[in-house]
Amino acid sequence: METLEYQNHKIIQGDSLEVLSAEVPDNSVDLIFVDPPYNIGKNFNGHKDKWATDEDYLSWCYRWIDLCVNKLRANGSMYIMTSTQFMPYLDIFLRKKMTILSRLIWYYDSSGVQAKNYYGSMYEPILFCVKDPDHYTFNANDILVEAKTGAKRKLIDYRKNPPQVYNSEKVPGNVWEFARVRYRMDEYENHPTQKPIALLERIIKASSNVGDTVLDPFSGTFTTSYVAQQLGRKSIGIELQEDYVKIGLRRLQLATEYKGEKLQKEIRSFETKKVDLPKVPMFNLFEEELDGALVY
Ligand SMILES: C[S@@+](CC[C@H](N)C(=O)[O-])C[C@H]1O[C@@H](n2cnc3c(N)ncnc32)[C@H](O)[C@@H]1O
Repeated sequence: METLEYQNHKIIQGDSLEVLSAEVPDNSVDLIFVDPPYNIGKNFNGHKDKWATDEDYLSWCYRWIDLCVNKLRANGSMYIMTSTQFMPYLDIFLRKKMTILSRLIWYYDSSGVQAKNYYGSMYEPILFCVKDPDHYTFNANDILVEAKTGAKRKLIDYRKNPPQVYNSEKVPGNVWEFARVRYRMDEYENHPTQKPIALLERIIKASSNVGDTVLDPFSGTFTTSYVAQQLGRKSIGIELQEDYVKIGLRRLQLATEYKGEKLQKEIRSFETKKVDLPKVPMFNLFEEELDGALVY
């Protein structure tokens, strides 16, 4: 376990069960975002994301859930992700510990072929839960989205007395559409399941305030810590793999070197050589499939 601490941001390399137990005090965190391995066989820098049995995976999840619940302050919130097939078990387990306020769907479009003999997976579930349903942070005004009917069609609601123009903004519903992180996007890092900045922006803006502490026990490319920093929150990010810790240090601009190694973003193939390829629809599809490393 190694802790790197910079003013408001802590990056801890180690096993999250151990780190959560030893390094993070109980009742000290305002918001937790958990995006654990999904038990679907992804390769995290040589570590296969697959447990011997489903029960083993679930018992492991239950251990970090219990720890996370203890780390949250009384008015804290937690967002939890996992694969569609395991989410129902986490949902049932969590109901006994916290109040689940929303069951969110992160939906994304993909022109790559997901499946041919069944319906391809185009979403990932997220649970939004709070410790105390009467006292929790929810900054609705900071996450408003366009209410299409009101904003575009300028309709009048005649059911109201007096009649009123429809709202042009609203709190997002429970289906969220954000593009997955693709190879050509500026925010792309070399990680198989990086989450989009826009997803974390919505979560952190809604469920924390400036100066609050945001924890991510499976940080990957440290998207959560990065967005927390951009939004003036404090962060604690835990990650097992040293290569991903280096991404975090660079992304948050906390260090330019690590153990003597200069921290630089990997140069992507299209940034070095410019190849003139025909822009025909078939090619565009192929290119997108190559970029879309995340298929669940
Ligand atoms: C789904 S990814 C998180 C991706 C992250 N949300 C992002 O935006 O990049 C899960 C991460 O958990 C890490 N991990 C797996 N087991 C771990 C453990 N026991 N303790 C800490 N990190 C672990 C993996 O290396 C991987 O980077």
